[in-house]
Amino acid sequence: MCGIVGYTGKNSALAPVLEGLRRLEYRGYDSAGIALTLEAGLPLWVEKRAGKLGNLEETLDQGVPTSHSGIGHTRWATHGGPTDTNAHPHLDNDGKLALIHNGIIENYVELRLALEAKGHHFKSETDTESVVHLLSDARKEHGGDLAAAMRQVCAQLRGSFTLLAIHSDDPERIVGARRNSPLVVGVGDGENFLASDVSAFISHTKRALELGQDEVVDITPTKITITDLAGNTLPPNEYEISWDASAAERGGFSHFMLKEIYEQPKAIADTLIGRMSGLDSSITSGLELVNINKVVIIACGTAYHAGLVGKYAIEKWAGLPVEVEFASEYRYREPYVDAATLVIPISQSGETMDTLMAMRYAKSHGAQVFSVCNTNGSTIPRESDAVLYTFAGPEIAVASTKAFATQLVAMYLIALHLGTVRGLLSPEFLAQIGDELAELPGKVEQVLETVEPLRELTRKFKDSTSMLFLGRHVGFPTALEGALKLKELAYMHAEGFPGGELKHGPIALIDEGTPVVAVMPTGNALLTEKMASNVQEVKARGAVVIAISDVDVPAATHLIRIPTTHEFLQPVLSVVPLQVIAYEMAVARGNDVDQPRNLAKSVTVE
Ligand code: M6R
Repeated sequence: MCGIVGYTGKNSALAPVLEGLRRLEYRGYDSAGIALTLEAGLPLWVEKRAGKLGNLEETLDQGVPTSHSGIGHTRWATHGGPTDTNAHPHLDNDGKLALIHNGIIENYVELRLALEAKGHHFKSETDTESVVHLLSDARKEHGGDLAAAMRQVCAQLRGSFTLLAIHSDDPERIVGARRNSPLVVGVGDGENFLASDVSAFISHTKRALELGQDEVVDITPTKITITDLAGNTLPPNEYEISWDASAAERGGFSHFMLKEIYEQPKAIADTLIGRMSGLDSSITSGLELVNINKVVIIACGTAYHAGLVGKYAIEKWAGLPVEVEFASEYRYREPYVDAATLVIPISQSGETMDTLMAMRYAKSHGAQVFSVCNTNGSTIPRESDAVLYTFAGPEIAVASTKAFATQLVAMYLIALHLGTVRGLLSPEFLAQIGDELAELPGKVEQVLETVEPLRELTRKFKDSTSMLFLGRHVGFPTALEGALKLKELAYMHAEGFPGGELKHGPIALIDEGTPVVAVMPTGNALLTEKMASNVQEVKARGAVVIAISDVDVPAATHLIRIPTTHEFLQPVLSVVPLQVIAYEMAVARGNDVDQPRNLAKSVTVE
């Protein structure tokens, strides 16, 4: 959801704020806005526009006054449509205080009614505007102390928020706060940064500070103060960012998504390093695994599909029952969970609100939490008993690709670890599967070398109205992932089915020329035969079948050949052509590949 950036320092603020917004635009792109402080006493300079950041940038050509401190926002609309007026920053009635916000203020209506009764005049339909009026009054009560005002206001808010505020009378200061929504501090030399994630300031500094729940941060060019809502000063929790600016740039690829598809071999290799012969105690020491009797995987979207594959591996290798739950549904059905339950939240961003809330529910009922996450310092790993980080590097495209590949790898590593702890896996098996895992990066490279014909083939289906994906065993979650990718990128109807379910209804969708992608790597002879029959069935009804397999599939119309690997590891290879199909279809249909309509990378509202 919305991207937030703040800069205060020795340099002009406009360039780092715009650069930060450009890097954070993946989080939301309905509108964008900037507020800059000028000299003390002069009014704030504010510009905001509906639409993508480019719309705002066009207006800046008319000149921007020099400023050394400012905040910027890129919005994914929740309350109020994507208009100039609803765009952030929002101002108080004096026009001296500017505020940007990510998240949802749940009690904004009651706050607004009370503020209007006090004479505040509202301009927008947003939940955010209540906060700026509240903050304005609180600042006056606290004799101009914006940080004290922010603490008071946060205590009055319900919901989730990252907030950044500036005031024209105190031009070097930016005050921020967070609850259930991300905010990190970038520590520079004579300059400091605040942002939704480190990519916003990665070209300026690699030093970052984590902020915890309900913490308020007050920055000037030379000072950073972090407090809790009671005003107690907290020690900074500093970490070094392990990747550099080029990782967050397109590097010659036409889109971030394509770059990220091609980064998968490295992402997988990085996630495997040092872990193939088991997870060491520095990762698992916070867990007591011997007595667990059930695993619950909670995740959303693509991460959920990785969880489904994880279920197959954990049940087989660790002999434990596994439930995979949509995080958004989990806590609301009040599931049974206790201290013998191991909960595994999977999240690229580590900030997905549905996943975070489901995880908190499980934790409050005694479960142990072992998260899989790609983002250092984010909320989900911070609140977990243990975390297995994936090393996909920054994933900028909204559609998840390399993060999915590494989430699969993480699930295999956890399944093997659980099986080892439970004494179920022989050294021979561990050696064999270790070899197979080690070969995955090279095999993904091979797939990438052979997908070129698929790009041309995909364009032939550009005008199709629907595409179906079939698979069995771990090929089924892979089919679901292929369908999700196509929906979000090509805006095309797509569904994934287990091959065996076809004749229970979905086969009625097949018509002359319907494209069907059959995920059918071998590994289990019985299932290979059954998938071959499913291919015959849909072909007999007019479907055009693209098979993804490591052997010939005579009945298929087209074959995409992938290398052979262990049956359970196949999704890592077979998903790559599905990503390419979705990418190519989006390009062919003229869609925005990296920022598909209505979506945002990090979903920090429920
Ligand atoms: O950051 P997370 O992994 O928690 O995000 C979960 C989903 O929102 C995400 O995987 C989403 O489904 C992707 N855009 C799909 O490509």
